[in-house]
Amino acid sequence: MNNFEFFNPVKIIFGNGQIAKLNDELKGFQTIMVTYGSGSIKRNGVYEKVMAQLHDKMVIEFGGIEPNPKYETLIKAVEVGRERGVEFILAVGGGSVIDGTKFIAAAIPFHDGEPWNIVSKGIKVEESIPMGTVLTLPATGSEMNSGAVISRAATQEKYAFGSPVLFPKFSILDPTFTYSLPSNQVANGVVDAFAHILEQYLTYPTNSPIQDRFSESILKTLIDVGPKTIAQSDDYDLRANFMWSCTMALNGLISTGVPTDWATHMIGHELTAFFGLDHGVTLAIIYPALLSEMAEDKRAKLMQYGSRVWGLADNELVPANIIRITEDFFRSLGIKTRLSEHGIGFNNVKPIVERFASRGWRLGENRNIASDMVERILKRASEPYS
Ligand code: NZQ
Ligand code: ZN
Repeated sequence: MNNFEFFNPVKIIFGNGQIAKLNDELKGFQTIMVTYGSGSIKRNGVYEKVMAQLHDKMVIEFGGIEPNPKYETLIKAVEVGRERGVEFILAVGGGSVIDGTKFIAAAIPFHDGEPWNIVSKGIKVEESIPMGTVLTLPATGSEMNSGAVISRAATQEKYAFGSPVLFPKFSILDPTFTYSLPSNQVANGVVDAFAHILEQYLTYPTNSPIQDRFSESILKTLIDVGPKTIAQSDDYDLRANFMWSCTMALNGLISTGVPTDWATHMIGHELTAFFGLDHGVTLAIIYPALLSEMAEDKRAKLMQYGSRVWGLADNELVPANIIRITEDFFRSLGIKTRLSEHGIGFNNVKPIVERFASRGWRLGENRNIASDMVERILKRASEPYS
């Protein structure tokens, strides 16, 4: 096991009706900015429940944060936040609203040039406005981690950034708030959480059985509850287990002391930046292709995954078989796993390869995924499914 530090200060308030505790959590803060997306919280009743808790506060609303939150939108909230002296920001939504809010929280006190530099140049964020979340879409784990992913429409860029000062103070996770999700967003969430676990687990062995078994247990739970919760939107237990799986998949716990990959995410971010594909969809496209290309590097963990997570017998433990089962799981959720199925040809993705080449990035747990390998992965992802 590698050396590690583990720090996660996020208070999780989980369960039906827990929104009643929101007012208590905001004691001491008077001017609150409430951030949200394009209106789902107004249609499903979450907005009223949140506002009822803010009856004694000065509330500034900032709606309209889009999926894959854009710098161009968020910078407007930064201006409002500065003008109005916002003391606390409450994000009500999915990963995009939460990530956007982390950016706003970091950018309000940032006076060292254009706030985009926080994202594009990875400038260390030392200070932020405190924030909390009311989660409505289980997927990203953003409610319990200190990272965020922000896009810039003008340049078709999408980058991740993070800082220990960007952990939410609290996150309220009420599974009933997810009942209104369209099934494709639930499917995206299952794939996103599944991919988060694979990025931290499917690398090479480091004799870290606790981390491995934590990861395997969340993967198995997602395989069990994922398809069922897509089929049954108002089953509380299914939604609760789905929600907690997603949070546990990316709160830092399973990555303690182990190598991590993240190449699928980095390539996937480019597919979103160029073609607007949902984050979960990009992962379902890239992961099977990446595993096929990297099967030898990942062989030991791939076998362990096939055996322990999918229960395959020794004679079934063949990389191609294990990868096909994974891809078919994504497809069973209703997600198309090939670029061609999304109307994208290999020629269309060449700018992504060029981008990786010009950045000189070397990705993966062995830092051996450079632009030539990115090209092979994208080529494989363009082949038709058969
Ligand atoms: O805009 P609203 O009205 O909120 O509607 C959203 C949006 O259209 C809707 N939605 C959310 N909750 C709902 C609902 N509709 C009905 N009922 C509800 N209860 O769902 C749509 C998608 O929402 P979004 O927040 O974009 O989805 P998700 O949570 O999957 O977030 C994706 C973003 O998170 C980033 C991704 O890159 C992407 O930008 N990620 C963040 C990570 C992190 N911070 O740790 C890690 C991830 O790997 C990921 O990269
Ligand atoms: Zn993700």
